[in-house]
Amino acid sequence: MTTRTATVPGLAGQVLAGYGDRVRLHDLYDEAGASVYHDLAAVDTTEIRELLRSVRAVPGPVLELAAGSGRLTLPLLALGREVTALELEESMVALLRDRLAEAPAGIGARCTVVQGDMSDFQLDGTFAVVVLGTTSVSLLDAEGRAGLYAAVRAHLRPGGRFLLSTVDVAGADEDDLDLEAVGASGRRYRMIEHWRAGQEVRRVTILPAERDTPQDGPVLALTTSIRVLPPDDLVRELASAGLRVVARHSLPAASHRHTGVLLEAEAA
Ligand SMILES: C[S@@+](CC[C@H](N)C(=O)[O-])C[C@H]1O[C@@H](n2cnc3c(N)ncnc32)[C@H](O)[C@@H]1O
Repeated sequence: MTTRTATVPGLAGQVLAGYGDRVRLHDLYDEAGASVYHDLAAVDTTEIRELLRSVRAVPGPVLELAAGSGRLTLPLLALGREVTALELEESMVALLRDRLAEAPAGIGARCTVVQGDMSDFQLDGTFAVVVLGTTSVSLLDAEGRAGLYAAVRAHLRPGGRFLLSTVDVAGADEDDLDLEAVGASGRRYRMIEHWRAGQEVRRVTILPAERDTPQDGPVLALTTSIRVLPPDDLVRELASAGLRVVARHSLPAASHRHTGVLLEAEAA
């Protein structure tokens, strides 16, 4: 489903306006966005090392929420664990299933893929570790997060850990952060994040790098809104949902204005 370009704020909105009616604007995770997300995710190693270190400390089956196309799922499987990967979008589930089918025999077989909503799920059994990486907690509103925490508690084994990452965003002079990224395919993308200090949501828009954009024909642009959930706020929110944070690990910064944190929580 396409989204209206007029809804995109700041620099990305101006760039899109320049392309006029050539723009095809989609959600980053829909059927058009999934392949671009996957292209970028395939070269993104953010938080994998820190996450695996924390998972290794707690033996047993792993539940991964918002698994996407498997950026974290495959490394989790490589630890030798049974992994249940839950993902909302059909397009992402299809990409994940394809990757698992291509993985060496014995790896894919240890993964159960479930299409479902992380804010409201009921699975058979309990898990030693529940993982929610890539700042994906920020995709849920307060009601969704309350549902998530209740479902996580219901699926955690005694002594189990809930591992989730979040990002703090520092105020800057500029509202727009304009970056270039290269996907696994070699394609170059322009990523523009729009956020002003105090705003609850940052808007990320991805479009082809300017020098790679053809003179005519459609221009695919993808956009997503991400809530800003500073780690201290999230720790308080988790505590009131009965999940006590027992460790915080710094993650390498994605840019000068982002600070990533991996939180480890257990049932209080
Ligand atoms: C930032 S991506 C992360 C994907 C993957 N973990 C990675 O590192 O590449 C967020 C994922 O969450 C999925 N998602 C969004 N809302 C969801 C929900 N309510 N329940 C489950 N998955 C959801 C999106 O479709 C997307 O695949």
